[in-house]
Parts: sequence; structure tokens; C-alpha cells
Amino acid sequence: MEIINYFQEYKKVINKRLNELVSQYNVSETLKNAMKYSLSAGGKRIRPLITLSIIHDANKAFVNNQCYIDLACAVEFIHTYSLIHDDLPAMDNSDYRRGNLTNHRVYGDGMAILAGDGLLTEAFNIISHLDLEDSVKINCIKALSKLAGANGMVGGQALDIMNNEISTIDELEAINYHKTHDLFLASFLFGAYSIHLDLTSINKLYDCVKYFGLSFQINDDLNDILASSVETGKDENKDEKNNKITYPKVLGIEDSRNLSLEYANKALEIASEIFGEGLLTKLIKTTLIM
Ligand code: IPE
Ligand code: IPE
Ligand code: MG
Ligand code: MG
Ligand code: MG
Repeated sequence: MEIINYFQEYKKVINKRLNELVSQYNVSETLKNAMKYSLSAGGKRIRPLITLSIIHDANKAFVNNQCYIDLACAVEFIHTYSLIHDDLPAMDNSDYRRGNLTNHRVYGDGMAILAGDGLLTEAFNIISHLDLEDSVKINCIKALSKLAGANGMVGGQALDIMNNEISTIDELEAINYHKTHDLFLASFLFGAYSIHLDLTSINKLYDCVKYFGLSFQINDDLNDILASSVETGKDENKDEKNNKITYPKVLGIEDSRNLSLEYANKALEIASEIFGEGLLTKLIKTTLIM
């Protein structure tokens, strides 16, 4: 099968499973629908694809094991929750996400907060029930709770909402490292732990993800200015309206592009050193470069 078709196949599997996982909840139909609304609204599914690509490359075969699909879905739960909360009026106050009205614009602020809370907590529920070795599960839970929590993505989002007080690229990089890189690191580590990647390679992987995460956020900042809402599925020029300090604001568009490309190539080089050419290197290329 062509590599690109693998991504389409994996996306189908991920989307189907995300829907199944949420369908099981039965306390409140409205809460369930609000959770489904944001999960099913599309999204590039890059984080779950990272986990599955690493496992795929190691086994040189399509990942059919339901445990790994669920593990990948758990990261998407956390990511989707972070987007629902990121869009709230008290945060970025965005009206569009993944080509649709934002969760709070449809379900109201209270239900959107709860849909996010539900996805966040259920992610850990999913992992704890997987039929995988306890050591793998504990490593995944440790990584995700650290990287999504106060020392991770939530900490980065806290810096981000105070972001108009910053003035240097180092301060900007610290925000992006946590708000964006950290959750990517969880998805890379989920793959690494699943294949029992050796410690030397895991240490190299940290560098790869550092460059991947930062390049990703530079592109996101550039798209906020340069891409249409049809292309991004999000509000246009939201960073400017929210007075955010972004890469293009600090470095200009050209230098931001160059820096993103420099980081992307570094990420790619390290990834191919660790895993060889395969699904993961293709995913990095299609996400950051092409
Ligand atoms: C958007 O992430 C939020 C950032 C961390 C910049 P994505 O660009 O991966 O969003 P979806 O999942 O495709 O909607
Ligand atoms: C969001 O960053 C990062 C997280 C949700 C953790 P942004 O605010 O730049 O993301 P978009 O542009 O709204 O997708
Ligand atoms: Mg934000
Ligand atoms: Mg935002
Ligand atoms: Mg953005």
C-alpha cells in the first residue's frame, strides 16, 4: 500500500474508534453529544498518527491491535479537550474550529467546559483499561499526566494567556514548548514505549520532538495570518485580535518560515536516524514541509 493511503486508513480507524469510545457514555446525552461534536468535527489527527506510525515502522505492518488504537485515541481526547478550552471566551474566544462553530458556541460555555473535562479524564480511563503490560501503561500515564498537566500543556496555556507581557523569542519559545511540544512528546513517547525503544534512542527522540513541536507552532502562527478560515477551519487573524506575540510578529514572515523549515529538517534527520525512512518520516514531511 502507498504510504499516503496508510494515513487515510489509520484516520478511518481512529475516527471510528473515537466515536465508539464516546458512544459508551450514558449519563447525559447532551454531554455525550458535546464531546462527540468536537471529536468528530475533523482535525488532522496528527498526534494519534504519530503514535501509530512509530509502531507501524517498528513492526513493518499495519497496526491492528485495538490497544494501540485506543492508546492513540487517548492523546486525541486530550488534544481535543485542549482545543475546546482554548476556544472559550475566557481564553482565545474563537468562533470556529475544525470548520465548524466552536463547542461553546453550540453547547454553551458550561457544557463546553464539561465536554473538555470529560475528554481529559476519560483519556486516562482508556489507558488504564488497556490490555498491555502494566509497565507500558504506567509509563504512558506518567508521561501524559506530566506533559498535559501543570508542568506541561496546561502550564504552557497559562503562559500563553499572559503572553502579551513577553518580549523575547526565548520567552515565546518557552510558551510554545509547553503548550504545543509537550503533547506531541506524549504521542511520540506512546509509540516509543509500545515498541520498547531503547534509552539511547529515546534520548535522541527528545531532540527530534523539540524541533517538531516548535516548527509545528511556527506554522500554526503563520497560518493564523496567511491562511484563510476555509483552509484552517478556524477564525482568521485571531492572534492579532488577541494581541498575541507570535513568531511572525517577532521575526517577520520570511524568517519565521526559514526557522520552521530549519527545525523541520532537524526533526526529520533525527527521526530517520532512529526509525529509518517510513511512515513517521513521511508524516513529519507532510505535516511540516509539504
Ligand atoms: C492546533 O492543533 C493547536 C495547536 C497546538 C497549534 P492541530 O493543528 O493539530 O489541530 P487539529 O487537530 O488538526 O484540529
Ligand atoms: C493552542 O494554541 C494550543 C493548545 C490548545 C494547547 P493556539 O491557540 O495557537 O491554537 P489555535 O490556533 O487556536 O488552534
Ligand atoms: Mg491559544
Ligand atoms: Mg487558539
Ligand atoms: Mg494558533
